[in-house]
Amino acid sequence: MKAPVRVAVTGAAGQIGYSLLFRIASGEMLGKDQPVILQMLEIPNEKAQQALQGVMMELEDCAFPLLAGMVGTDDAMVAFKDADYALLVGARPRGPGMERADLLSANAEIFTAQGKALNAVASRDVKVLVVGNPANTNAYIAMKSAPDLPAGNFTAMLRLDHNRAASQIAAKTGKPVSAIKTLTVWGNHSPTMYADYRFATIGGESVKEMIGDEAWNRDVFLPTVGKRGAAIIAARGLSSAASAANAAIDHMRDWALGTNGEWVTMGIPSDGSYGIPEGVMYGFPVTCENGKYTIVQGLEIDEFSRERMNVTLNELEEERAAVAHLLA
Ligand code: NAD
Ligand code: LMR
Repeated sequence: MKAPVRVAVTGAAGQIGYSLLFRIASGEMLGKDQPVILQMLEIPNEKAQQALQGVMMELEDCAFPLLAGMVGTDDAMVAFKDADYALLVGARPRGPGMERADLLSANAEIFTAQGKALNAVASRDVKVLVVGNPANTNAYIAMKSAPDLPAGNFTAMLRLDHNRAASQIAAKTGKPVSAIKTLTVWGNHSPTMYADYRFATIGGESVKEMIGDEAWNRDVFLPTVGKRGAAIIAARGLSSAASAANAAIDHMRDWALGTNGEWVTMGIPSDGSYGIPEGVMYGFPVTCENGKYTIVQGLEIDEFSRERMNVTLNELEEERAAVAHLLA
């Protein structure tokens, strides 16, 4: 049996936390031979802490053989101590009358503090995934607040968008979702994202040719994938949780254990590839091997794609500008 690794999860008593923690503890994220110690963070509020205690009681009652320990806390320095993985799920939701700028600055405070705590106490190899919205900008803030950790350790979740895109293509083509290869989603986890199936294949055949209908891409596929989060909120009265937790598991598993050459989408700090300015936390197609991700290179960017990639980039640049004064 391997030595246990430490997995920190914030917002642990929330909806996503409830769909996520049990799967991590059962080995779905890091493998059935990898014991884990869960280090769970919630806000210092009696109700949240009590709910967290309840979640921990349930984790205990599962008697997971891989769960080697548990910590529940309201202190980020405790939750992130020696963390090998950190899933930053907790965030400030948009309240009534709250403008986007208010949301950005409320979250900037949280992710500055958490970035600093990671910087101070986490493993130097910690793999960080930001799920809490606005995910890309929160990940950017955490990265900037942790100057002693490699910037590339910070990532944002675009995997839910990737999975949503794959399912829409499977439904359109009548093919199994597992057969869809080399798909990606560029940019921000927001309706401006650009889900791109130009390079995707099913059984070696081009998805673009199979679908053949450019209008479907523009008028159905892109808006459906881009607005799926809002459609779920409208239907459920709550934002996606099980599918978001599933995407977080997929993201971390692939990063840690590798993708066997297959593409996945991760929000990562740009290295300048595809003309995306360095440091911008942007969704890219990547492959993962030995715990490292590598951006897929050499893809042709046509005029339509460049336009879409710029729209989502501009939104990220605006978000970055809106929080710049908080990072100075
Ligand atoms: P939720 O409100 O059910 O739970 C969030 C939990 O986080 C709450 O228990 C809250 O007390 C806690 N929390 C808030 N601030 C915290 C902090 N500073 N430290 C620790 N815990 C904190 O929300 P949810 O449905 O679990 O969603 C969580 C976040 O994930 C939201 O921001 C949501 O918009 C986002 N989300 C992202 C994606 C994505 O694809 N990136 C998808 C779905 C949801
Ligand atoms: C989603 O894509 O389901 C969420 O990001 C939606 C949201 O605003 O929480």
